[in-house]
Amino acid sequence: RQLNCLSFFFSSTCTFFPAFMVGWSSNGPPDPILGVTEAFKRDTNPKKMNLGVGAYRNDQGKPFVLSCVRKAEALIAEKQLDKEYLGIGGLGEFSKACAQLALGADSEVLKSGRNITVQTISGTGSLRIGANFLSRFHAGPRDVYLPKPSWGNHTPIFRDAGMQLKAYRYYDPSTCGFDFKGALEDISNIPEQSVILLHACAHNPTGVDPRPEQWKEISEVIKKRNLLAFFDMAYQGFASGDIDRDAWAVRYFIEQGHNVLLSQSFAKNMGLYGERVGGFSVVCKDTDEAKRVESQLKILIRPIYSNPPMNGARIAATILNTPDLYSLWLEEVHGMANRIIKMREQLVAGLKKEGSSHNWQHVIDQIGMFCFTGLKPEQVERLTKEFSVYMTKDGRISMAGVTSGNVGYLAHGIHAVTK
Ligand SMILES: Cc1ncc(COP(=O)(O)O)c(C=O)c1O
Repeated sequence: RQLNCLSFFFSSTCTFFPAFMVGWSSNGPPDPILGVTEAFKRDTNPKKMNLGVGAYRNDQGKPFVLSCVRKAEALIAEKQLDKEYLGIGGLGEFSKACAQLALGADSEVLKSGRNITVQTISGTGSLRIGANFLSRFHAGPRDVYLPKPSWGNHTPIFRDAGMQLKAYRYYDPSTCGFDFKGALEDISNIPEQSVILLHACAHNPTGVDPRPEQWKEISEVIKKRNLLAFFDMAYQGFASGDIDRDAWAVRYFIEQGHNVLLSQSFAKNMGLYGERVGGFSVVCKDTDEAKRVESQLKILIRPIYSNPPMNGARIAATILNTPDLYSLWLEEVHGMANRIIKMREQLVAGLKKEGSSHNWQHVIDQIGMFCFTGLKPEQVERLTKEFSVYMTKDGRISMAGVTSGNVGYLAHGIHAVTK
């Protein structure tokens, strides 16, 4: 009887479907990135390439577990720790190290204790806690300004939290680079006290970041407009290979007096994708405000997931707080970033070798896991159909899926569809 009841609810053809269930009585649209993976799996071409998903692969095209992670896991296993609940804000030694990694060991904010950092369910969970926090407490307009384009999940994260989405110009398709003028113009017209989302480094999906002198001007305009800056830092260390360089914009904004919100993820830079390790920070005006924010964050988190999972946070905390493992991690994150930078160079060299007369410099200039190739949807379609190279329709490729073994084939395919 129970089964009948369930099939009644899930049957889209059922004529007795209760009105209040209508919204989920049919399938929603598939996720565009996961759809690419599905099509890739069905393809039998041995040369096929999946450049859709943003997960790092080694030069053999295999998922990569960092050795600092393996070593941290062994240390944790030896300790035979218990599995009691963490506090609502997560593992203290993780949150502290997470904030320090982002803000820098000498940060005035950390010294004065005017930040609150909680452990979150990776970067997505962090952004959602931040979005919920804004939705409940932000006194200014409920508008969040995203760069155009932005990571596909930003819109639903903020929208589902009750915020409204707006955009500022960011990417210039004519140069495959940063539309600095357009961005400044749009930001200077954002209504005061709105929220602006900034990718701290390795902008997803374009791979285009402002240069330091451009960040300085952006900071100035944001200050003039009295906007609240929300940094999404999902790739610290992964962009340039240098954790301090990648955190430069966040630290600069704080030095300039912005009390920023900050989301961090350890999915990419520690390869802890499925462990779901992240942090959410609010920089406050003083320690009293930080305490009040902390208490409100706990009230917000408690009915969502009560407290975060411990395993990944223990791994990240062990790496960040053990000098030998920390040095090893810096080397490994540098190695991952470097491999990607090398692949960008080899792809451009390959295109030249194929005889391409286009200017592919943007492939080298862009940074991080993704490259916005500038390929048009019909060229992407041909690349997929004729060469079994899978990517999103916007022409974005994950450089992490490119290896010494397949970069030549990719260059050949791209040249064939762009000549
Ligand atoms: C810009 C950006 N923010 C946040 C995330 C969050 O990822 P995760 O929830 O896996 O940490 C990603 C992942 O692709 C991203 O690209």
